[in-house]
Amino acid sequence: MGIVIAIDGPAGAGKSTIARGLAQRLGFTYIDSGAMYRAVALWALRENLDPSDSHRMEQLARAAEIRLEAGGGVSLNGEDVTQAIRETAVSVAASVVAAVASVRRALVEKQRAIGAQSNVVMEGRDIGSVVFPAANVKIFLDADPAERVRRRAQETAADPARVSGEIEDRDRRDRARSESPLTQAPDAVYLDSTGLSIEQVEEAILRIVRARITNGKEFR
Ligand code: DC
Repeated sequence: MGIVIAIDGPAGAGKSTIARGLAQRLGFTYIDSGAMYRAVALWALRENLDPSDSHRMEQLARAAEIRLEAGGGVSLNGEDVTQAIRETAVSVAASVVAAVASVRRALVEKQRAIGAQSNVVMEGRDIGSVVFPAANVKIFLDADPAERVRRRAQETAADPARVSGEIEDRDRRDRARSESPLTQAPDAVYLDSTGLSIEQVEEAILRIVRARITNGKEFR
């Protein structure tokens, strides 16, 4: 088992940017677990399948060959889907697929297998609470709703009013589902990134990492 740094939190809190930067600085593997739910959702949409159909979605989740590249690239069954999985329809379908228990079981297995092989910074909703309850460091990264909408709108060049509705719906579904809802693990450190720069958030987390991991490994 490698070292695991788990970063959970709602949409638009800055998880991807922060997790990718931290992984680079630490020389760890960056894993965007949300991209795995998105890849399954994309496949379902292309096949015209209902993303809440538990049986079919489990089949897709188990059959999907998902590759996550170090730079953030994502491939599904050999095809580069880095851009395609970011479309709004896929975001919506991903949060429906993510509520299916059998899909979660299949993808959590894949996530644990990756964590068993290397040191990882893994971001998602349930990494510290379910996927790696014994993670070395757990961060719950949050930000004010208005700031999360602003960041997401800027990132996707979309209309803030539309982004606001979409984020609200997605967060509600992610927090309300019965299976592994978005929640802060009791031993996670809560970090509010509102008004902080990427550099400031990274530094705050690195301080926690250095304080927690005292097994002689060196960090830059
Ligand atoms: O982080 P993201 O927006 O790319 O995630 C896409 C969807 O997948 C989102 O609705 C939450 C869900 N998700 C999840 O349920 N568990 C994870 N570990 C990661 C993402």
